[in-house]
Amino acid sequence: MSVGRRLDLVAWARREGAFVLEDDYDSEYRFDGPPLPTLTGLDPERVIYLGTLSKTLTPAIRCGYLVAPREVALRITKLKELCDGPLSWPVQQTLLHLIESGGLERHVRRTRQRYADARASLRTALAPVENAVALTGIDGGLHVVLRARAGLSAEQIVERAGVNGVSVTSLAAFYAGTDRLEGLLLGYAGMSEDELVEAAEILARTIRDLDELGPSQETAPRDAY
Ligand SMILES: Cc1ncc(COP(=O)(O)O)c(C=O)c1O
Repeated sequence: MSVGRRLDLVAWARREGAFVLEDDYDSEYRFDGPPLPTLTGLDPERVIYLGTLSKTLTPAIRCGYLVAPREVALRITKLKELCDGPLSWPVQQTLLHLIESGGLERHVRRTRQRYADARASLRTALAPVENAVALTGIDGGLHVVLRARAGLSAEQIVERAGVNGVSVTSLAAFYAGTDRLEGLLLGYAGMSEDELVEAAEILARTIRDLDELGPSQETAPRDAY
């Protein structure tokens, strides 16, 4: 959001006595330039800031955090206890140690570089098919969206890539209705650099083959790569 819209939103929240939930869930991984400024910085009394350790550490511990006005934080703490109880004590102590020792910060710095390298490899591997698909949302986070140009079917790419040994997800999986963008969601954090390059190159060949077949053609069965 532009600065103007941010200020308007916060002014609205003040006027209405409302809270804005700022879900800044993968802000640690922005690769081109500094992190975006937070809304909560504009008004910590009206904005509840949410983050998660799912991206920086692991989704397995189910741990997130929030920064909120004291009253709100106390109420949310109570609600969380009613819903699913506190995070396990050993996990809390381990996290505390990781944060206080600076280990978490070092880990985020290291992984930011690792994911930036992975992102660059992904870009290189998909460059040969840039006329058929556009890589978007690549400036941050741990996944990118591959927009298919008109005539290229995401479902066909998913199917053929699967036959060739690469599992990718169509954007259709994220829509309730039929009005949607044609493309794929590619997560690139959960594999080694070699695996990523191999998978991306297979995906690029799959896309190139489908693109050469033309828009309305059925895909002929082919040998797997
Ligand atoms: C919009 C959004 N918010 C938050 C999260 C983090 O969720 P959790 O902490 O439950 O893993 C995600 C996970 O991908 C997300 O997509």
